[in-house]
Amino acid sequence: MIDIHSHILPSLDDGPETFEESIEMCRIAAEDGITTIVATPHSKDGVYEAESDSIVKSVKELNLRLKEAQIEVEILPGAELHLNETLVESLGNGEALTMNNNKKHILLELPFLFIPPGTDKLIGNLRSIGIIPIIAHAERITFFQRNNKTLEQLIKSGILVQITAQSLTGFFGSRERKCAEKLLKHKMVHFIASDAHSAVRRPPILSKAVEMASRITGKEEARALVFENPRQVISLQSETKQGT
Ligand SMILES: [Fe+2]
Repeated sequence: MIDIHSHILPSLDDGPETFEESIEMCRIAAEDGITTIVATPHSKDGVYEAESDSIVKSVKELNLRLKEAQIEVEILPGAELHLNETLVESLGNGEALTMNNNKKHILLELPFLFIPPGTDKLIGNLRSIGIIPIIAHAERITFFQRNNKTLEQLIKSGILVQITAQSLTGFFGSRERKCAEKLLKHKMVHFIASDAHSAVRRPPILSKAVEMASRITGKEEARALVFENPRQVISLQSETKQGT
């Protein structure tokens, strides 16, 4: 499986603090059947400002250490970019990272409580420069829990949707679980990712959630959320399939 949302790099945000912790997380991921992880530290959210250079450097270091530890997981560079008026500019000058540096997809974090005015315009601006935003943990955003319509319109405008494995397994509470299930039922999900932050509390585990998703969507569609669709994102050439 491929995990496109993970705070796996040490000391850049609220994820692990040391490489040892990162490696422990990767060991858990490998045991769960995850082969590739896009490292997506919080960036440009006013609290954490992981710089592109530090992310790329840390990815290289972690990959080296994983080889030494004989853990068969590959880490790719990325970022969880907070909604920000300067995003188009930051992507243009390389301050903000696309997923696996593909110059095409970004993992976009919206505020949890409300969708700020102008969001659709900003997304339109991103689309106009060829960027496809992937909305991070859509099921945890209160506005989407209450109302599908806006998300439906955003999907029509070309965005993609990621939900969190631990929402499906109930870790975040019943509203998040129900919203995740509803989005799956309405075919409004393109990715299940871990949004892992640690080895224990928020671990990089996808298999349980995929099993639960498959009861709603069927096995093949659930698989696409952790295999085919993320493969399109980390690929540096091909088109990403819309819908599941
Ligand atoms: Fe995250």
